[in-house]
Amino acid sequence: MATPNAASVPGRRVPYLNSRLQGFGTSVFAEMSALAVATGSVNLGQGFPDTDGPDEIAEAAIAAIRAGRNQYPPGRGVPELLRAVAEHQQHFYGLSFEPDSEVLVTAGATEAIASAILALAEVGDEVVMFEPYYDSYAACVAMAGASRRVVQLRPPEWSFDPEELAAAITPRTRLLLLNTPHNPTGKVFGRDELAEIARLCVERDILAVTDEVYEHLVYEGEHLPLAGFPGMRDRTVTISSGAKSFSFTGWKVGWACGAEPLIDAVRTAKQFLTFVSSAPFQPAIASALGLPDSYFHGAAEALRTRRDLLSAGLSALGAEVFPTAGTFFVTTDVASLGEGDAIAFCDSLPYRCGVVAIPSSVFYDDKAAGRTLVRWTFCKRLDVLEEALARLKRLAG
Ligand SMILES: Cc1ncc(COP(=O)(O)O)c(C=O)c1O
Repeated sequence: MATPNAASVPGRRVPYLNSRLQGFGTSVFAEMSALAVATGSVNLGQGFPDTDGPDEIAEAAIAAIRAGRNQYPPGRGVPELLRAVAEHQQHFYGLSFEPDSEVLVTAGATEAIASAILALAEVGDEVVMFEPYYDSYAACVAMAGASRRVVQLRPPEWSFDPEELAAAITPRTRLLLLNTPHNPTGKVFGRDELAEIARLCVERDILAVTDEVYEHLVYEGEHLPLAGFPGMRDRTVTISSGAKSFSFTGWKVGWACGAEPLIDAVRTAKQFLTFVSSAPFQPAIASALGLPDSYFHGAAEALRTRRDLLSAGLSALGAEVFPTAGTFFVTTDVASLGEGDAIAFCDSLPYRCGVVAIPSSVFYDDKAAGRTLVRWTFCKRLDVLEEALARLKRLAG
């Protein structure tokens, strides 16, 4: 059967699209999720859980709808969520932010990232980021008229060369974009690595934007916010959301924290993107942030079991599996399965096995570096993961 070249859709020319966005095409996640539906495949592509978060949080949203909290909320976010975000940062990391001036609610982390980049980068500036990188970063940098400089994370540890990072920061660099825990690799940046990144940001006087949406999904080591390192509190915009921590990805409640002048700038851009969003979901996520620590540990433990199942299963099939310390994802090198091109492999996988995965090259500028890497998500029910692994046995046949 013919296999549509879904994974390589990014890159085709789109009529009418401005030149800055040419090449971005359609998000690979949308493409692959559509392919999963069309082929009846198990979707281990897009990172959304197949079970909802706690009932009590869903009930809080329903109660907010019934209580009439359905009109535009305040531009900065509802007061109880601003307070809950500030208390969360204090409780987990000892970072203090003023709820009324140093916290901003956004339409998911996605809008916080877009607003931060649009607000902080000038046309012609450079933004440093690690590759592989989450796809929205490059698009937002392009929309801002800035350009990206990438520093590569190399398996199996997904480590970077500090000299490469130092060299990537030039006089035109405005900010560094950091994602930890890191999608797609599952890397959790360590204390020494973060200290080195912080040292360079201070020495070169650049800003940092951190994407910490997987902050509670850590299985080895611990999550450390860059803002907690010396000299970083007042030069970092820290971003997270309720999507991954609470399994409500469709609610799109995110936030940014930082020093008032930075948040003022981010808010200026944000107000002309969505203005506001998710009115009744904001108080619900506020109550979620106040759940006891046992909730957060339990959520990570449940995912650890899934990580272990998928990693062991992929390894048993003969794929080289890289250790994953956090997030929803595990990366394999399919060269060990005799596959020379992960895009062709992922395009054919729904037809060969009824499973969808993401070719990691979409997260790279250096396509050769990601050529045989595949990202699989384990944020699915155990029986779904078992079904996917059973189907993948067809690869051997
Ligand atoms: C690294 C990373 N950042 C941001 C997001 C988007 O977060 P949100 O749904 O809160 O916009 C995702 C979702 O997959 C992600 O993986």
